[in-house]
Amino acid sequence: MADTKQTVVEGVDALTLNGKADAETVETATDAGGAKAGATTTNADDVVDPWNVASSSDAGVDYDKLIKRFGSSKIDEELITRFEKITGKPAHHLIKRGIFFSHRDLHSILTLIEQGKPFYLYTGRGPSSGSLHVGHLVPFILTKWLQETFDVPLIIQLTDDEKTLWKDLKVEEAIRLARENAKDIVAMGFDLNKTFIFNNLEFMGKCPAFYQNIIRIQKCVTFNQVKGIFGFGDSDIIGKIGFPAAQAAPALSSTFPFIFGNKKVHCLIPCAIDQDPYFRMTRDVAPRLGFPKCALIHSSFFPALQGAKTKMSASEQNSAVFLTDTPKQIKNKINKYAFSGGRTTVEEHRQLGGIPDIDVAYQLLKFFLEDDKKLEEVRVAYSKGEMLTGEIKKLAIETLTPIVEQHQAARKLVTDEVLDKYFEIRALKFGS
Ligand code: TRP
Repeated sequence: MADTKQTVVEGVDALTLNGKADAETVETATDAGGAKAGATTTNADDVVDPWNVASSSDAGVDYDKLIKRFGSSKIDEELITRFEKITGKPAHHLIKRGIFFSHRDLHSILTLIEQGKPFYLYTGRGPSSGSLHVGHLVPFILTKWLQETFDVPLIIQLTDDEKTLWKDLKVEEAIRLARENAKDIVAMGFDLNKTFIFNNLEFMGKCPAFYQNIIRIQKCVTFNQVKGIFGFGDSDIIGKIGFPAAQAAPALSSTFPFIFGNKKVHCLIPCAIDQDPYFRMTRDVAPRLGFPKCALIHSSFFPALQGAKTKMSASEQNSAVFLTDTPKQIKNKINKYAFSGGRTTVEEHRQLGGIPDIDVAYQLLKFFLEDDKKLEEVRVAYSKGEMLTGEIKKLAIETLTPIVEQHQAARKLVTDEVLDKYFEIRALKFGS
């Protein structure tokens, strides 16, 4: 039957992990089969997909190569300048420092802003553990800044269904974790009037429009295509195969009729680059359903304390600084585990200098020390060997500890009642 045959579409938004558009590529990726088939290799050994991030280099993933593979665009000086011109203020340090380094269609969003047209933000989190680590804050920090800068509605999806399917987690437990994680998100201070948070396992039953869009999306994507994009194999459970549509649906404004009515509103998604495969699929499908393609702004990965070869992980206790850690734990972890770009002896270090690019204490500062001048002084002093490993670690500890402490204080105020308000199906303040 002709109408069941799906077409593989155009240009940079290819339905494959490596960014190629043609049907032949999809088939090739499919042939490889197995869980790793869709994984992208950038360096000889860099692996980046929604479930695995690993690099053989101490400096971590080669992001320029990743941009080429994924077919996204680099956030360059010109884009940052345009951004600053429109907002009338300096770009966020996570953008200026290249931590958010890649995008799709950000120029289109800036054009909408210039024209006074609306858009909304959409981001999410897969609740795989009860406590978040500092790296989990990163996309939400930028999201909050974007929301405040552009005064736009924000949708936050908690994919408890995804984590039930991928991890050894029961439905009930995943729902509980979703709510726990949502408390950490709310503690970051998102404006209730402009923020809607939901978990898939409960929202699905309350909002028919969500399920209807999931089905529309699922009707546009074949098994071959998701195999090509995500590397699913014949023995993967069927829940995984259908799941990508659930992460795609919030990028269509009609999923939230109580917020957007029947308006087709543009969407900007801040996320870590490993989530890009979901949204390549979404961007391919959206125009076929009569919607604009979502725009994206991608972050690099937050390094594990052991070094940038892997990302910080909540399931590896010693790889992460958790938002529940005490000052003493933070101090001990950083001192004991943070991979050092320093030299073996003090003499050698003074002579040759440290290597900030592979030094985890320096990387922590790059993410969390807002003062540009101070960061640059540290970089220079450490590179010249004037600053020692113990000193840069001390500064990292002093920078992170108050952030974690403040977070803990704010989280205490997020009661179940407060949380329920964010989850309530309601209109948001939208447009003026
Ligand atoms: N899959 C994401 C994770 O495991 C969660 C998520 C859902 C998400 N929707 C999103 C992340 C939108 C970024 C943007 O963490």
